[in-house]
Amino acid sequence: MLRRSLLMLSRSDNVKRLVSTMPGSSGIVSRFVAGESVLEAVEATRQLESDGLLVTLDHLGEDTLDQAQADMTVAAYLELLTALDGAGLTGGAEVSVKLSAVGQALGAAGERIALDNVRIIAQAAADAGTTVTLDMEDHTTTDSTLAILGDLRRDFPCAGAVVQAYLRRTEADCRELANEGSRVRLCKGAYKEPESVAFQSKHEVNESYVRCLRVLMSGGGYPMVASHDPLLIATAGEMASEHERQQGSYEYQMLFGVRPDEQKRLAASGEKVRVYVPYGDQWYGYLMRRLAERPANLAFFARSVLTRG
Ligand code: FDA
Repeated sequence: MLRRSLLMLSRSDNVKRLVSTMPGSSGIVSRFVAGESVLEAVEATRQLESDGLLVTLDHLGEDTLDQAQADMTVAAYLELLTALDGAGLTGGAEVSVKLSAVGQALGAAGERIALDNVRIIAQAAADAGTTVTLDMEDHTTTDSTLAILGDLRRDFPCAGAVVQAYLRRTEADCRELANEGSRVRLCKGAYKEPESVAFQSKHEVNESYVRCLRVLMSGGGYPMVASHDPLLIATAGEMASEHERQQGSYEYQMLFGVRPDEQKRLAASGEKVRVYVPYGDQWYGYLMRRLAERPANLAFFARSVLTRG
């Protein structure tokens, strides 16, 4: 109920204005967002890499409504990749891109615009010695995102995909994607989705996650286990041994600011661990999805607003 309400608020412009200007909101923002500038994003990357962690960076922004905004997002990624390259950090850092931020929602031509734009980012990433992963947004975009991924992979075979275990279709998508060289990030899914397309209970989502993980771990691709869930992390480790996968032939991924001790513990045990680092001033939608995931985060938010406001 609370999750649904917060996810609905994540689409509200009025609440966005209120939260973005509220004194005290910066406390919770800095817990989940590396900063607003490229410099801060690079600094966070440097810090995480020095802790033995890998990174994927997300320039925050979604639901781009015009071409100029999409172009600005592309420019932001190019600036980021140049800065990461200049700082010698691209060995351990890639970028994650939301296709809605680079034009996917711009009407009939949206898919073509998003593909052209993400190609520019993928080329810059390749020039800097790294790659891109396409984030997955709400279910109305899944087919389009996977189609763009297919096109992108012709020139950039390392481009990664994200799939969401809460969608009923995802086990079948995993079968399609679990082939040689294919990087697939499996997450639970963070949007408000109808029962017709998505499992609703935590139990069903977890069961689906395990089924999808089995498909990925037994396939020829490179599974990226994106979860903070202790049970799923343990299950991934067991499945990797069962399928005789060496450490490094898959990786764990977690969000910036969530279970940082667990991130370091896994890395210290020899696992590859990548942290998803969002940065930029368009943090509202991202923050609301994080609050929806965990009531304790909401309490932390309320406390920071009350004590500073
Ligand atoms: P869940 O939120 O159910 O938490 C499970 C358990 O993890 C909790 O019960 C607790 O034990 C532990 N836990 C969680 N948060 C904790 C905290 N703050 N402190 C301590 N313990 C905590 N979604 C999407 O729709 N599209 C996308 O492209 C992506 N991309 C993405 C990339 C990466 C790298 C990650 C990690 C996640 C995403 N997501 C995403 C978000 C994802 O779908 C999901 O909403 C969150 O990861 C939360 O799901 P969990 O698997 O962590 O489980």
